[in-house]
Amino acid sequence: MVEMTTTPRILDGIAIAGQIKAEVAVDVQALVARGITPGLAVILVGDVPASQIYVRSKVKTCGELGIFSEMLTPPESITTAEMLALVADLDAREDIDGILIQLPLPKHVDTKRLLEAVSPEKDVDGFHPVNVGRLQSGQPGLAPCTPAGIMEILRRSDLPVAGQNAVVIGRSDIVGKPAAMMLLNASATVTICHSKTNDLGKVTREADLLVAAIGRPGFVTPEMVKPGATIIDVGINRVTDAAEVEEFFPGNAERAATFAKRGSVVVGDVHPAAFALSGAYTPVPGGVGALTIAMLMQNTVTAAKLRRGISLEKK
Ligand code: GUN
Repeated sequence: MVEMTTTPRILDGIAIAGQIKAEVAVDVQALVARGITPGLAVILVGDVPASQIYVRSKVKTCGELGIFSEMLTPPESITTAEMLALVADLDAREDIDGILIQLPLPKHVDTKRLLEAVSPEKDVDGFHPVNVGRLQSGQPGLAPCTPAGIMEILRRSDLPVAGQNAVVIGRSDIVGKPAAMMLLNASATVTICHSKTNDLGKVTREADLLVAAIGRPGFVTPEMVKPGATIIDVGINRVTDAAEVEEFFPGNAERAATFAKRGSVVVGDVHPAAFALSGAYTPVPGGVGALTIAMLMQNTVTAAKLRRGISLEKK
């Protein structure tokens, strides 16, 4: 074991999200002064508790920043055809700049088809194949919120990306793949790992910058981390087992109190003991999660501007 003598730097996602939201609010005011109120429509299907929490938070943040929002809550039984009709209505509306379909959708609904039904100009999630292609080819467009938030954390914390060995664990369309592409666009040397990667620890130990997005609590353990690395933990996992809580947070009175009160605690994809070896890390909660909504707000304003041919340049 290598002993680290320095205390890792905690990358405060809530503070960074606050900065971005304040900037977006200024942008919104400038648009409103020109008679334009950016508008976001969020579609939440059925009752998935986690999705309900996220969507409520998105709608609330719109209100705080002066963005018009509308929430549509069709029942779990909605068909793909009915969803397509909903999206077509929103897509045709002048007062709606962004359309977000909260995922996951019920199994019987054709997610890919729906994501393609949102016009790329209103695709504030950056999930449409046209926007995926724009990201890949380095053209301006709407990019996925969580990876965009990761890049903002790195940029605003003055952490280097160019030339760094970046390892992304997880290959989802929402986080892993676009995060890898953004890191590559920022000139990192990028490796994508996943559940089938041989000798994962050997790869992750080479990472100057480690992004964990696999959705498994405490998956990244200390022996997988290069001392001094920057760790970005994208995981939001709910742990409901008391023994597991104690394993992740031994003797931690605050987490024990949260567990006693709620019956669960949130754990990232990185084991807390692994953070101790890092040079800098995003905590869970209070790290990347806070950025996702801030970037959605920014994308909504970007969409409002792009659709009207207003320049995106700032300051
Ligand atoms: N579900 C989990 N993350 C996301 C996201 O970023 N966007 C949407 N639409 N659904 C999600």
